[in-house]
Amino acid sequence: MTHEIVSIPADAASGMQDSPALLRLRALLGEHRLLRDADSLARFGADRSPGWVPRPVAVALPETTEEVQEIVRIAREFRLSLVPSGGRTGLCGGAVACSGELVVALDRMNSLLSVDAVDRSVTVQAGMITARLQEIARERDWFYPVDFASSGSSQIGGNIATNAGGIRVIRYGMTRNQISGLVVVDGRGEVLRLNHGLAKNNTGPDFRHLFIGSEGIFGIVTEATVQLLPAPKPPQVMLFGVGGFPAILRLLSEFSNTLKINAFEFFSNNALEKVLARQGTASPVQTAPFYALVEYESAGEHDEARALAIFEEGLERGELVDAVLATSEAQSRAIWRLRESISDTLSAWKPWKNDISVRVGRLDTFIERVSALVAAGDSDLELVWYGHIGDGNIHLNILKPEELSADAFAERCSPLAKGIAALLGEFSGSVSAEHGIGLLKRDYLHYTRSNAEISALRAMKAIFDPDGIMNPGKLLPD
Ligand code: MLT
Ligand code: ZN
Repeated sequence: MTHEIVSIPADAASGMQDSPALLRLRALLGEHRLLRDADSLARFGADRSPGWVPRPVAVALPETTEEVQEIVRIAREFRLSLVPSGGRTGLCGGAVACSGELVVALDRMNSLLSVDAVDRSVTVQAGMITARLQEIARERDWFYPVDFASSGSSQIGGNIATNAGGIRVIRYGMTRNQISGLVVVDGRGEVLRLNHGLAKNNTGPDFRHLFIGSEGIFGIVTEATVQLLPAPKPPQVMLFGVGGFPAILRLLSEFSNTLKINAFEFFSNNALEKVLARQGTASPVQTAPFYALVEYESAGEHDEARALAIFEEGLERGELVDAVLATSEAQSRAIWRLRESISDTLSAWKPWKNDISVRVGRLDTFIERVSALVAAGDSDLELVWYGHIGDGNIHLNILKPEELSADAFAERCSPLAKGIAALLGEFSGSVSAEHGIGLLKRDYLHYTRSNAEISALRAMKAIFDPDGIMNPGKLLPD
């Protein structure tokens, strides 16, 4: 495995030059919706994860569920593997096509199909960009709460396939919570219309939830009915300079027990420094080891006084260093930008990324144990901490020193990776809180899911995808 995305080898697509599968796909989609040029193969064959050389055989651009169904039928007939592809913003290789697969890109399936004003729901094609869905909600004075830095390019189908989380999970839950209906084409080529947007449907196990978060190994999501919320009042956004992890956890508990919080994020000072250097801006708060970004919904002066009291008490105890309250929407956005730019900023260092979680109540001891593990390990490596600590979700990133090759760096990170995974097993935590498993973490799946669960997952895959053509190699260990 190499850690660089490189361009497509010249002969990568030649195997299917005149193949019957290609002829059938071309007859279905036409020349312009079956891409085989090197740029498209490189672009659609990769996501944002490092480590794999994209090698798809072609890229199909269907426009309807029926076309996706026909693609799956052709793929079954010719034993052609399929990689469902959304915005390809994933970080775990879930949308990588590196073994001659056909990429099924949903880019052209981005229409709003219907709006139900009584239910406050919309039905959209799966290729709709997440930010467009947020905008559709806003235009009607509604709200789609799932949000993250890549919402401008990720697609709703990809969000569903990975059960995307993001910054407001603490208040609204993951993507799963918003999906009231799904249309999927499974690996048999069957179209399943799941739950039909119903609020109540007690007719046995809900297959909708089986497909949400399944990373495309059972089928391809083509349409979704999304439950929207009434638009909330503009929230209050505060940024705190904090002394250390115990103080962050105390702040979290004080806020979450007395105020309605939408988000509770944290990041370390080196994360902020790197973001500020890139943006060319100054910090809005005094320098501190860590920062906590809190967004809460204020019911009025009483709540604002409570937030201020939490700050003053923390300051007195010496746990908090400073705080700033955004007084305009522009200031709120600027504070959020500091947090949301971290991932993109750090990508320049090709970091080794962790996306882990434990129950919030176990965070204090878990963080102590992780910190001890890190301190006992490779002290030369630079660590950057950030994440959705209010959900128990931490993104610990280790930066690659410039002089180290990708493979040498991976080797140095490996003992820590195993140590953290074992710790997660001990704490009944998750090796992937929100990014998914993909190719990157499938060998770590067993730290979070039991062998009995993994074998049940394999059995389910065999039912929905009897020929093993749907996103092979992803999620399940070999
Ligand atoms: C984030 O929280 O910024 C995203 O999950 C991306 C990342 O972890 O790098
Ligand atoms: Zn995250």
